[in-house]
Amino acid sequence: MSDLKNMDPEVFNAIKGEEERELSKVVLIASENYVSKPVLEAQGSVFTNKYAEGYPGRRYYGGCEFADQVENLAIERGKKIFGAEHVNVQPHSGSQANMAVYFSVLKPGAMIMGMALPHGGHLTHGATVSFSGTLYKSVSYGVDRKTEMLDYDEVERLVVEHKPKMLVVGASAYSRVFDFGRFRKIADRVGAYFMADIAHIAGLIAAGVHPSPVPYADFVTTTTHKTLRGPRGGMIMCREKFAKAVDKQIFPGIQGGPLVHVIAAKAVAFLEALQPDFRDYQQQVVKNARALASVLVQDGFRIVSGGTDNHLMLVDLTPKGITGKEADHALDAAGITVNKNSIPFDEKPPMVTSGIRLGTPIVTTRGMREPEMKIIGDLICEALANIASPARLAGVREKIKVLCSRYPMFALEKAGV
Ligand SMILES: Cc1ncc(COP(=O)(O)O)c(C=O)c1O
Repeated sequence: MSDLKNMDPEVFNAIKGEEERELSKVVLIASENYVSKPVLEAQGSVFTNKYAEGYPGRRYYGGCEFADQVENLAIERGKKIFGAEHVNVQPHSGSQANMAVYFSVLKPGAMIMGMALPHGGHLTHGATVSFSGTLYKSVSYGVDRKTEMLDYDEVERLVVEHKPKMLVVGASAYSRVFDFGRFRKIADRVGAYFMADIAHIAGLIAAGVHPSPVPYADFVTTTTHKTLRGPRGGMIMCREKFAKAVDKQIFPGIQGGPLVHVIAAKAVAFLEALQPDFRDYQQQVVKNARALASVLVQDGFRIVSGGTDNHLMLVDLTPKGITGKEADHALDAAGITVNKNSIPFDEKPPMVTSGIRLGTPIVTTRGMREPEMKIIGDLICEALANIASPARLAGVREKIKVLCSRYPMFALEKAGV
């Protein structure tokens, strides 16, 4: 780090600032995590220098023997974690993974059907502002107005009515279990391909804490940086019969050279995910989410769908008369990082929203458990009851700093994991 400090103090200081931010705040962004030191080390390695267009054993550049080694390790470990027939670890991100799957079997203009963005779906599941909604026709399904959960009968009705070529399942803001077997049956009614996007819940699935779509889906895509706790990136799993088509779409279809340093870091993260204590971690993530939700409910907040089965929850702020935007700002001042989020059937615009999304992957990585969720929940309630008082928010900030000082970023290494 000292080389960087001497050569480019501006970037050095930004990195130091980010380090301090990540350490001194309680980060409840559901889509983020803190990677381990070995993952960081692999990502910061000399593989950043290497071009390796192609796939192991079939590269367009010389000198790829070690790139082949790490990519094969990542592939084999990915297969082992999820029991997948074929794995591609080259997608630069979750969005590229989804794009490659669509391109592998769909012609432009074909219809895809995914969960509506305002109900928790992702941009790449057919939203009009994404390639997925402009290159393809898109019809979406949502959650039931009353239960705020997926209504599988309604999904089936829509699928039979619109006959999509691809049924997409997965979400960025849905706190309940997906019945992947049921989705398979629904897709089969119209001969649709079935893609499960497990970006958010991949870690839970890897640990057996959420059912796996692998036995049911034609394609499973994921990011590697959320609950899976790896570097920022994507991965595709598919049945062997789609392997060639998918690989061709990632390279040369939509990407150039793979990010070998990121693939090395994926391999390391996958090794971590294969350890027995990864299951303990994921179980604790869910326990923490439930504990945090119950503190908020006791204080009069409403949790969308009445609770959570995974790592996240959507909190409806309407009963408190504040917006997601206001809560996001107030909590930030109090040292708690969250994101404003639309709730299903939200009447407020996406830049305002009626809700916030909270997730527990990071606080769990730092070693926090139910007692700390009680502290954090109480501090959230205190901050949101005082959004117009800078002094009260500053008071919460001090308590958050004290809490954070007890939980280092690399808690897992400290515990000898
Ligand atoms: C369900 C889902 N799919 C795909 C993505 C896209 O991932 P990326 O941001 O890496 O492109 C996300 C990201 O939040 C997501 O939540």
